[in-house]
Amino acid sequence: MKIAVASDHGGFALKQELAAFLRAKNLDIIDYGCNSPESCDYAVYGYKAAQAVAQGICDGGILVCGTGAGISLAANKVTGIRCTLCGDPATAHLTKQHNNANMIALGGRIVGGELAKMIVEAWLSAEFEGGRHQRRVGQISQIEAGIFQP
Ligand code: RB5
Repeated sequence: MKIAVASDHGGFALKQELAAFLRAKNLDIIDYGCNSPESCDYAVYGYKAAQAVAQGICDGGILVCGTGAGISLAANKVTGIRCTLCGDPATAHLTKQHNNANMIALGGRIVGGELAKMIVEAWLSAEFEGGRHQRRVGQISQIEAGIFQP
């Protein structure tokens, strides 16, 4: 399983910590930056990682900015990306089961390292349930494609 990670400066420290944590679990991690705690723009790195997931280079992605909000907004503008801001493991688990979230975002200034690891593990260990949830995720794709007829 190949996982994209990316952050801005506000998420840099947590992104580094999570990348090391996941590599220690033998997951294949591709780091799309940033590469230092110097001020930078979250859209740049969220976009790069989201493109990798949308193009199938990575199976999923983990994004971190100060709050997780800006970088998730940027990722969600890439067609095919369903990125959810997660502050707890239950949301992380359910967002894979119900929303088939292919990326999650965390707030590096909001959650601590231990909680962040639990969030990431909860998302990675969950499976999409399909069924009625597939219909709803399909509706999101239709909205994205501009063909949704509610
Ligand atoms: C950067 O200061 C901060 O705005 C950014 O990391 C993020 O929290 C935006 O949503």
